Amino acid sequence: MRMEASAPAKIILFGEHAVVYGQPAIAAPVSSLRAFATVEPNPAGLIGLHIDAPDLNQRLPVDIRAESVDNALALTAQLVLNSLNVPPPDVTISICSQIPIASGLGSGSAVSTALARALCLVLDRRMEDAALNRLIYEVEKIHHGTPSGIDNTVIVYERPVYFVRDKTLDTLTLGAPLTLLIGDTGIGASTKIAVGDVRKRYDLDREATENIIHAIGNITEKAREAIERGDVLVVGAMMNENHELLRQLTVSSPELDHLVGAAQQSGALGAKMSGGGRGGNMIALVTPETADQVENALRKAGVVRVFTTTIA
Ligand code: PMV
Repeated sequence: MRMEASAPAKIILFGEHAVVYGQPAIAAPVSSLRAFATVEPNPAGLIGLHIDAPDLNQRLPVDIRAESVDNALALTAQLVLNSLNVPPPDVTISICSQIPIASGLGSGSAVSTALARALCLVLDRRMEDAALNRLIYEVEKIHHGTPSGIDNTVIVYERPVYFVRDKTLDTLTLGAPLTLLIGDTGIGASTKIAVGDVRKRYDLDREATENIIHAIGNITEKAREAIERGDVLVVGAMMNENHELLRQLTVSSPELDHLVGAAQQSGALGAKMSGGGRGGNMIALVTPETADQVENALRKAGVVRVFTTTIA
């Protein structure tokens, strides 16, 4: 018995942070970068469900009777077992992820989604995506406090989404594929802190903050139309504008601005930070002709890791 399940990373193309305040956002899966959960028999002498996550430095027995579970992996397993109303299986599930943590690529949601799917496999039970999505949202609260739900949605459904908080899922059909470079500043940053800082700003200077949030919402609407008609020039221009507004919200960082500037000056159609910000990753929209020169410019500007993804 060896079973494996996985889930992808994600990038936010438009609307991060504003999405927490009810504005739309657009996100896409990065299917080439994944978290894996592998089910194996317990080693001799070990009883119960064990989750082994060496990358996260965790080895846990899961106690589904515990009332409050503050570990995301244990909570994921507990919620799956409770919702299926089954006892824990006698297995070890090993987690292994290609997705850097705390970098805006949805590592937390991806790891939990892979784990939940692996548990369903070993239990020989099916969980619909809608139910799994609700479950992973509950786990996301550990990472983010008050998540909008965009990460779990794009990762569970593995489709490009136009997402509005508490609204039914709206998937996107692209008029032309988008080729993006994802560039890592190498700086880990807490989404929870960035989201909390925007909230403080909102409470202190509501009018100005609301103006920025609405402007991001308008950009996301325009970007959606451009994405659907395949107008990559407008998509790129909207990315640049979105980045500037995120700077005004103070969720960018000198390193992100530096990489975004390098991409913009070397021929990218547009570039912006992606995700919670203050570190983590930026994205640059390129064409097959400009991809190499933009990648070289990012390397010269000190990017820690860069790879290409195509959203179709
Ligand atoms: O998980 P991250 O860092 O990609 O951030 C998620 C996007 C935010 O809008 C900043 C937070 C949220 O809950 O939507």
